[in-house]
Amino acid sequence: MQEEKCQEDSGIDKDKNLIECAIEIARIFDLEIEYRTFDIKDEEISERFDYVFFLNVFHHLDEKNKIRALRNVDRITMKRLFFEAPIGGDIVSETYLTTEDYLSYFRGFTTFTNISLVGYSDFNRPILLCER
Ligand SMILES: C[S@@+](CC[C@H](N)C(=O)[O-])C[C@H]1O[C@@H](n2cnc3c(N)ncnc32)[C@H](O)[C@@H]1O
Repeated sequence: MQEEKCQEDSGIDKDKNLIECAIEIARIFDLEIEYRTFDIKDEEISERFDYVFFLNVFHHLDEKNKIRALRNVDRITMKRLFFEAPIGGDIVSETYLTTEDYLSYFRGFTTFTNISLVGYSDFNRPILLCER
């Protein structure tokens, strides 16, 4: 069987200004990273990646788009997904999700076989590691 080719380093956000900032930082540090504006609500990611970082975006999405985003990152991740879980309250619904809630989301809507809490970010937000 032919191995699926993975994409090189790449970053997305829906905010054009942040993407411009990221491009400039990559230029200054001479990093080969392809950044592009992308709204996870409206688009599907066609590439595949060995490692995916989905950091602190979940609380910006309503219920339907949370599930859509989870299915998206599930599909594109070949090896490992690192997920930073916002616990300070949803921007759209003001729902407060616990680490257990996040684990349930991943068990319910993704095909990762091993999902574990591996630590906390600088903002004390849970970091989940999802593996195949
Ligand atoms: C708290 S910031 C986190 C930024 C970055 N991921 C990090 O960890 O530093 C949340 C980001 O989610 C982005 N965002 C919100 N809704 C989005 C969507 N539908 N598609 C793509 N990005 C989105 C916002 O533009 C914002 O930059």
